[in-house]
Amino acid sequence: MRAGTFHIITFGCQMNVHDSQWLTAALEKQGYSRTAMEEAQLVIINTCSVRQKPEEKVRSALGRIKTATCGSRDVCVAICGCVAQQLGKKLFEYSPQVRLVAGTDGIAAMPQTLLELLEAPAKKLVLLDFAPAYVERPQLEIGGASAFVAIMQGCDNFCAYCIVPFTRGRQKSRQEHEILEECGRRLARGAREITLLGQNVNAWGKDNGQGSFAGLLRKIAALPGLERLHYITPHPKDMTAEDARVFGELPVLCPRLHLPLQSGSDKVLAAMRRRYSSREYLDLVETLKNARPDIALSTDIIVGFPGESEADFLATLELLRKCSFVSSFSFCYSDRPGARAALFPHKIPPALQQDRLLRFQAMQEEITEKWLAGRVGQKALVLLEGKSPRQADGQESWQGRDEYGAIVHVPVNEAFAGQMIACRIEAARRHSLVGRQEG
Ligand code: SAH
Ligand code: SF4
Ligand code: F3S
Repeated sequence: MRAGTFHIITFGCQMNVHDSQWLTAALEKQGYSRTAMEEAQLVIINTCSVRQKPEEKVRSALGRIKTATCGSRDVCVAICGCVAQQLGKKLFEYSPQVRLVAGTDGIAAMPQTLLELLEAPAKKLVLLDFAPAYVERPQLEIGGASAFVAIMQGCDNFCAYCIVPFTRGRQKSRQEHEILEECGRRLARGAREITLLGQNVNAWGKDNGQGSFAGLLRKIAALPGLERLHYITPHPKDMTAEDARVFGELPVLCPRLHLPLQSGSDKVLAAMRRRYSSREYLDLVETLKNARPDIALSTDIIVGFPGESEADFLATLELLRKCSFVSSFSFCYSDRPGARAALFPHKIPPALQQDRLLRFQAMQEEITEKWLAGRVGQKALVLLEGKSPRQADGQESWQGRDEYGAIVHVPVNEAFAGQMIACRIEAARRHSLVGRQEG
């Protein structure tokens, strides 16, 4: 163990990745340095509870920490994020090394609290209260070509399967001037791409009487230096015609949208409390395609929701075909404590869930491959992220994403992360593209 060092383990969505980035910058500002788990004085686990067995993941992370640090009581472990919010003080029983449990609104206070704990080795603390409004954090100088900027926290939708409203609390929109200021700071420090984050971004502003989400996008798109704008996650029921239209108006708004469908069956959608029908979803896709014909859509799907019949599942496959999603995340439904669907009858046996998942994924693979093959010969602008995992002899290969969010490998010499290069797509692999630098 080295004094003044920390290590962070991150599970879950981009919101957690963003929270961990902020924690890293905040601890570095306090003079702490990042290190391997074996050497760290402070280990933070940023947790996710959205699907199956999250508690087990936390236990196994704690086991790894114990082994790596020989169970030293001088090592302070902090658990934050959604599982921390959900299980609270119970987590102290998981390991004597755990000394801080911080929920999703407690993250802002973590750097200061951790310092207190390191000075008082017998102390244990919790930060579990939900705040009444969006919790601003001290602005830190964070660099990098790609920036995450949170615009809201929490969710009011209570989809029947979902634990997020319980772990992230009610929707709290961030003040517009704070959002614009953070975007401006990141751009001034070299960001070229901004991804706006929230559990239900199109509902931004509704809870505290601010303007519309599309209006916010227009203001951010006008900031000098911004080249690419994305957002996650939208909810189809809150996506207005104007939200769709801006894809045709704002050149920096990338033609890529992750639009969770969950199911193609109206019966299942109603039971999930998604509050849109398959027809409404298809109409929205059409409006988006009218605004931006080349828009690449991706989605989230849950198979084996309680009561899902073969016909319901086929309706999901039908929507996949009609929408031609370029990619998707698909999951077997799992019960989450507190979420309504945990109490629903007619649970689908795991083997049948798995069978549907594989059938869905096989169809998705075909559609993805077709879309990637269709890109061959096209131009692409690639924002480089790092070296490709596979390197051929001779020239180095770097990878990045194009404007549609596809991974493109490009052979280049002397590249750097954050560089934007113009390419011509030369080949398609199963899940990525290969480009050649042009110009
Ligand atoms: N706020 C986002 C993300 C929610 S969690 C949204 O509304 O889309 C990310 C995905 O996990 C969901 O879209 C859903 O497909 C999946 N998911 C959530 N709860 C689940 C559960 N109980 N079982 C299986 N998948 C689930
Ligand atoms: Fe969960 Fe639904 Fe909210 Fe998404 S919109 S976070 S799926 S409750
Ligand atoms: Fe997981 Fe919480 Fe994100 S449950 S998906 S970390 S909002």
